[in-house]
Amino acid sequence: ASDMGKDLEKVLLTQEQIETRLDEMAARIDSDYAGKDLLLVGVLRGAVMVMADLSRRLHTSIEMDWMAVSSYGSGTKSSGVVRILKDLDTDLHGRHVLIVEDIIDSGLTLSWLVSNLRSRGPASVEIATLLRKPEAAKVEVDVRYVGFDIPTEFVVGYGLDFAEKYRHLPFVGTLAPHVYSG
Ligand code: PRP
Ligand code: MN
Ligand code: MG
Repeated sequence: ASDMGKDLEKVLLTQEQIETRLDEMAARIDSDYAGKDLLLVGVLRGAVMVMADLSRRLHTSIEMDWMAVSSYGSGTKSSGVVRILKDLDTDLHGRHVLIVEDIIDSGLTLSWLVSNLRSRGPASVEIATLLRKPEAAKVEVDVRYVGFDIPTEFVVGYGLDFAEKYRHLPFVGTLAPHVYSG
């Protein structure tokens, strides 16, 4: 499966659609956080592209930090128990925190992360995600900024991987079934 053209089924969101939506999200964030110092928290590794492209559209005062998390034990996310692989270097006390994510699928990662970060005494914690799969939600997560609600399909690109591949694609596409079922 090294021929990427054959691995992709269709383009779900073009680079242009993503960029237009990020413009709108950034404008809302700028206006909501006007006069405040904002800490963007990116969730490694999927959020790298969204963080890079969203942050460069912001005109408010921002800092950036990163966390890496992993589901605990079995390798599936169904437990909702998350382990911190890399924690923030920033003290959250009194900070306005905006978590930046590529996708909310079951919601378990973010649900856990929000309560973890809220326990650290921040002034506020909100979420910005490029993608959300409403039909896959196992827990309700209150998300302030959503790029696109998408169907429950296997999507890759723009930070999203399948077995660590395809993250570099500048668009979001669906994977052909032969890639993940074969
Ligand atoms: C993916 C995605 C989100 C999370 C969403 O990350 O980037 O962080 O899963 O899933 P959930 O809503 O069901 O919890 P993943 O754990 O695959 O790590 P990655 O970002 O390094 O690809
Ligand atoms: Mn992720
Ligand atoms: Mg992944």
